[in-house]
Amino acid sequence: MKTTLAIPVQKTTHSKLAETDFSNLVFGKTISDHMFVADYKNGEWTDLRIEPYGALDLHPANAALHYGQSIFEGMKAYKNEKGEILIFRADANAQRMNESAVRMCMPEIPEEIFMEGLLQLVDLDRNWVPSGKGASLYIRPYMFATDNYIGVKPSDTYKFIIFTCPVGAYYSKPVSVKVETEFTRATEGGTGGAKTAGNYAASLFPALQAQRAGYDQLLWTDGKSHSKIEESGTMNVMFDINGTLVTAPTNTGTILKGITRDSVIRLAKDWGKPLEERFLTVSELQEALENGTLREAFGTGTAATIAHISKINVNGKDYALPEKKSDSFSYKVLHELDGIKYGDIVDTRSWIS
Ligand code: COI
Repeated sequence: MKTTLAIPVQKTTHSKLAETDFSNLVFGKTISDHMFVADYKNGEWTDLRIEPYGALDLHPANAALHYGQSIFEGMKAYKNEKGEILIFRADANAQRMNESAVRMCMPEIPEEIFMEGLLQLVDLDRNWVPSGKGASLYIRPYMFATDNYIGVKPSDTYKFIIFTCPVGAYYSKPVSVKVETEFTRATEGGTGGAKTAGNYAASLFPALQAQRAGYDQLLWTDGKSHSKIEESGTMNVMFDINGTLVTAPTNTGTILKGITRDSVIRLAKDWGKPLEERFLTVSELQEALENGTLREAFGTGTAATIAHISKINVNGKDYALPEKKSDSFSYKVLHELDGIKYGDIVDTRSWIS
C-alpha cells in the first residue's frame, strides 16, 4: 500500500485474532486489535498514531458526555477471492463526516488524515477482514469533544478515532416496521441530517415501544404533521410503487445522506428505473398497501445494506408485504452492490479504495 503520511504504530502484544470465532460474529461485539487516534488542539489535528484497541482515559467533566458533541461514520471493507481488501466509498464517508462536523460545531478532518488513518489501520488489521459473502469489516470512525468543562460551548479539543469490527449480517431476516406518528426522529432546522450521537439516543425510546408492540423498527414520519415518511430505524427507506422507486429527498435537513441510499439511486438511474426523490405520504403508503401497488419496501444503510421489509403497520393496521422476489429491484441492486464490494463486478464508478 502506498502511504503519504508516516503514522507511528504501536502493535498489540496480545492479539485477539486466534480466539475470535469468525463463524459466529454478532454485529458490533467483536473489535479488532488496533485503533487509529488523532487529537485536535490549538486549532490542528496532531499526534496521529495507531495503537492497541483499548480503554480511553476520560475526565468526568468531558464535554461530549454532557452535551453530546459526538459524530460518527460507518463503512465496510470486504475481502475478494484473491484475498485483497476492498473498502467501499470511504471518500464519501470522509466528506459526510465533515458535513456532520460543521453542523455540530466541530473541526473538520482533512481527507488525507481520514483516509490514511483508515487505510493504514485496515492494512495492519487485514487478517481481521472476514472472508466469505455476507461477512465484512465494519469500520467505525468517530469524533468527540474532549474539553473538561461543563459550560455549554463548543469544545476547543477533540479526539478522532477509527476502530473496526468483523461482522456478519445486521438483520438475519426481513424486518417488520410500524409507522410512528407520535415521536419524531428529526425536524427541519434540527440535526437529523448529521450523523450525531443524540439522534440515535432520541430514537431509542420510540424504537423500544415499537419492539414491545412486536415490530423490529419504526418508519419515522416528519415532525410537523407526521404525514410524510422519512426514514426507517437507522436506515433510509425506499418504496417500489408500481415500478417507480420513491425515497425521501435529503434537502430538508431531516434525512441522513446515506451512502447506500446514494449508491442505490445511482444504480437506479444507470438502469433507467423510474425514480422519485420525494416524500411518500402515509396515506399514499396505505393506499398502495391496500390496492397492491406497493411491490416492495426496503431500508438502505451501511450496516444492513438492503433490509427487506416484510410487514408495515399503518394507523394501527398490519399489512403483509410481498415475499422477497429474485426479479425485484432490491434483489438486483443488492446483487450488484455485493458484486462490486466483493470484487466480482468491475467497479466502474471508483467506489472502491
Ligand atoms: C448504518 O447502517 O449506516 C448505520 O448507521 C447503522 C449503525 C448505527 C449501526
